Amino acid sequence: MTPVVVSTEGPLRQAVAAARRKGNQVGFVPTMGALHAGHVSLIEKARAVNGFVVASIFVNPTQFGPNEDFTRYPRPLERDLDLCAGVDLVFVPDVATMYPPGFQTFVQVKDLSNILEGASRPGHFQGVATVVLKLLNLVQPDRAYFGQKDAQQVRVIQQMVRDLNVPVEIAVCPTVREPDGLALSSRNQYLDVNQRREATALNQALDKAEEMIREGERNAGVIERAMVDHIAATPGAVLDYAIAVDRETLKPASPFRGTILLALAVKFGATRLIDNRIVEC
Ligand code: PAJ
Repeated sequence: MTPVVVSTEGPLRQAVAAARRKGNQVGFVPTMGALHAGHVSLIEKARAVNGFVVASIFVNPTQFGPNEDFTRYPRPLERDLDLCAGVDLVFVPDVATMYPPGFQTFVQVKDLSNILEGASRPGHFQGVATVVLKLLNLVQPDRAYFGQKDAQQVRVIQQMVRDLNVPVEIAVCPTVREPDGLALSSRNQYLDVNQRREATALNQALDKAEEMIREGERNAGVIERAMVDHIAATPGAVLDYAIAVDRETLKPASPFRGTILLALAVKFGATRLIDNRIVEC
């Protein structure tokens, strides 16, 4: 199946409305392109339960900081469209369509946005929340699909949908990994051979932390220290943060039980990688 590609609001709304008139439910997978098997897994999940599947490909400038990789973010559109074989409609707007002159409204999910990724990337989650709300308003899906790979993004979007009464079900899908455990990411292609080898350290640090919890460790500081030490022992890796927190609040879990989010961000040269793990205890 070759998807229909549209780049503006009118044709997008018309195509979704036509699918609805035929009685289809609508599933939506927002992406920034440079698609890989992680994105495809979201498309497959959407395909399995919705009669009509929409994906978007839009490298959203408002979620990139001034010194981040917006201009060099990969944009392999032809290849991306091949990977959208399971999609009915692909929305590929340009920046002026999403942010026309005079645009001035932004969504801020306050507490969840300023910590962790948000502390290192000021304004990032305001950009994410704003573009996701716009996309949800344009597509008006029954369900939207997001990857657990971006754990904080999931929480920001769930909170926004709850707080602003957005009529959509948010489905969270497991992280797809390389055989050696590295979480798939469009940014992995920036890594050189040595960095790529050492990048397995993120998943290994999470393995170690999870094992500690399973063996009864309940001191978040001790668990975080083990992740810090693992990254410190990894050539070329520079730790940004390593945390063991409550999955909902992203704040310390006290007492340390329930659903714990282990998460870390590590830089290899200019490339910043994130990974996480959910552990019940
Ligand atoms: P992007 O990084 O392209 O990711 C699109 C979706 O794919 C996100 O929900 C992300 O969590 C998911 N994803 C990425 N890597 C994954 C993996 N290894 N396994 C499973 N899912 C994975 O996230 C964004 O784009 C943007 O912030 C966006 C939500 C589109 C807003 O601009």
